[in-house]
Amino acid sequence: MDFNIALLKGDGIGPEIVDSAVAVLDKAGAKYGHAFHYTAYLMGGCAYDATGNPLPEETVKGCLASDSVLLGAVGGPKWDTLPGHLRPEKALLGIRSALGLFTNIRPAKLYKALKAECPLRPDLVENGFDLMMIRELTGGIYFGERGRREGKYGPEAYDTECYSEMEVERIARVAFNSARKRRKKVISIDKANVLESSRLWREVIHRVAQEYPDVECSDMLVDNAAMQLVKNPAQFDVVVTSNMFGDILSDESSQITGSIGMLPSASLGEGSRGMYEPIHGSAPDIAGQNKANPIATILSAAMMCRFSLEIPEVADDIEKAVDEVLNAGWRTADIVGSTGVTPISCTEMTEKILAAL
Ligand code: IPM
Ligand code: MG
Repeated sequence: MDFNIALLKGDGIGPEIVDSAVAVLDKAGAKYGHAFHYTAYLMGGCAYDATGNPLPEETVKGCLASDSVLLGAVGGPKWDTLPGHLRPEKALLGIRSALGLFTNIRPAKLYKALKAECPLRPDLVENGFDLMMIRELTGGIYFGERGRREGKYGPEAYDTECYSEMEVERIARVAFNSARKRRKKVISIDKANVLESSRLWREVIHRVAQEYPDVECSDMLVDNAAMQLVKNPAQFDVVVTSNMFGDILSDESSQITGSIGMLPSASLGEGSRGMYEPIHGSAPDIAGQNKANPIATILSAAMMCRFSLEIPEVADDIEKAVDEVLNAGWRTADIVGSTGVTPISCTEMTEKILAAL
């Protein structure tokens, strides 16, 4: 089959890691007779520099016309002083919203080969962990009403968290359906002891749960969840939570896998088109130095093959190749950890994975 893929390389290490993923996709796909046709579009700081707009209209159109989107990362200190609506991050929120990508799937599992890199006490992760965080992506405080005003103590600013029943219901269904394909356990995370929006969240989750009697469902307060993730991560199977809590907890869950450089993500809507990106940022400190870990982006490409393109055999092969290379002891700088091995570069890691394919 032939697939049209929009590439949003973005800023910082974005171009390097996307190039790696493209090479891996091409080789893995070719084995099964699939061809990928790529069109690159500008998004983020690079788009602002070139056009004055971090999310040009052409980029949105190109993504909408594609079968799927592969994204590197956006942002960097160069654009940190721009007003909110021109920041690279705003483009990321804009494209998620324009493509209707309300689901963000962030799996976090402990690779056997990286066990020693997990910062948790060894006895806490003896049996590993494998969780799937499902983050609501186009609602909540990220998209709520915000502004500045004159308040009781002078000038103040506000952002609002708002969830509709519809938004909670559709993300709940994604979580329960995903759990059915896994260990049949959903933990919904909220702050229902304080926030009205969380109380509605919890009500709707419980209502949807009744349609899935085969899936165990429980609630956890977000502060407790932050603690449980570093105390007993194996208790989690599918986690479902709001945009903001999911942003924070997915970084925490990535860190206990050893490195944020390992974690892929998928953003999905109603149709088959998705946007796939590593959960890490643009790492401006190592940009252009060929030091970045391309694995998170390569695994994101694998997720794209599984969730959007429906060629799971390609996804399996890519994931197997990554596993093999890690088991053979190859490490980029971020995952050297206690092994003491000499790190390999981004392109060398890519070569190793290509060879394993
Ligand atoms: C993420 C990032 C983004 C977010 C930023 C860059 C806007 O942290 O994808 O987790 O907060 O969603
Ligand atoms: Mg984040």
